[in-house]
Amino acid sequence: MITTDNILNVKKPKLKAEIIDVLKNRFSPRVFSDEEVNKKDFNSIIEAVRWTPSSSNRQPWFFYVAKKGGKEFEKVLSCLNKDNYWAKNASYLLVGCYLDEDEKGKNNYGQYDLGQAVMSLVVQAQSLGYYTHQMGGFNKDMIKEVLVIKFPVFPWVVVAIGKIGDYSNVDQILIDKDNKERKRKEIISQKI
Ligand SMILES: Cc1cc2nc3c(=O)[nH]c(=O)nc-3n(C[C@H](O)[C@H](O)[C@H](O)COP(=O)(O)O)c2cc1C
Repeated sequence: MITTDNILNVKKPKLKAEIIDVLKNRFSPRVFSDEEVNKKDFNSIIEAVRWTPSSSNRQPWFFYVAKKGGKEFEKVLSCLNKDNYWAKNASYLLVGCYLDEDEKGKNNYGQYDLGQAVMSLVVQAQSLGYYTHQMGGFNKDMIKEVLVIKFPVFPWVVVAIGKIGDYSNVDQILIDKDNKERKRKEIISQKI
């Protein structure tokens, strides 16, 4: 039987240099528990997003918040690709959108800055003991329709947030997907 501790162990990165704990401990699980993200922690996660750097401080992001148990949550779930079904157990699903233009005109850094904002969210959540799992696997046209999202706002990522769940009691498919070592490429071509 595979336990959550087994998964946490498998997911430990093989580091070439020391990094801070939140980055070391982070990974994207497919098993979330029923435990809610408490309101205070959720506010901190959102506040971390607000203080993200962005090109010319344009802050070209917008988040739709869907909490488990609510109507919006079901709407977001209905737009996810089938293999992202595990997201139904997350405490929150956030739809991260970028703004392609604002009062200053076209913004070529919208997607980049949204990515940074999401990473702020991920780091803050992890530091508070939660896990996150980002998803690009959803129907963008459908989510625009169900959440009434219009130009210049583009839904680009769905982020599941919650406490990690109990792997001893889940579908074998999820265990097979998550019980794997995390791999990374080399990112510098020259030794320094
Ligand atoms: C923009 C983006 C889109 C992603 N889309 C999906 C997705 O649709 N389904 C999924 O299971 N994981 C998705 N992931 C998670 C990645 O597969 C995961 O981050 C990657 O395999 C590295 O694993 P780690 O986060 O555990 O280090 C996505 C991640 C990002 C950043």
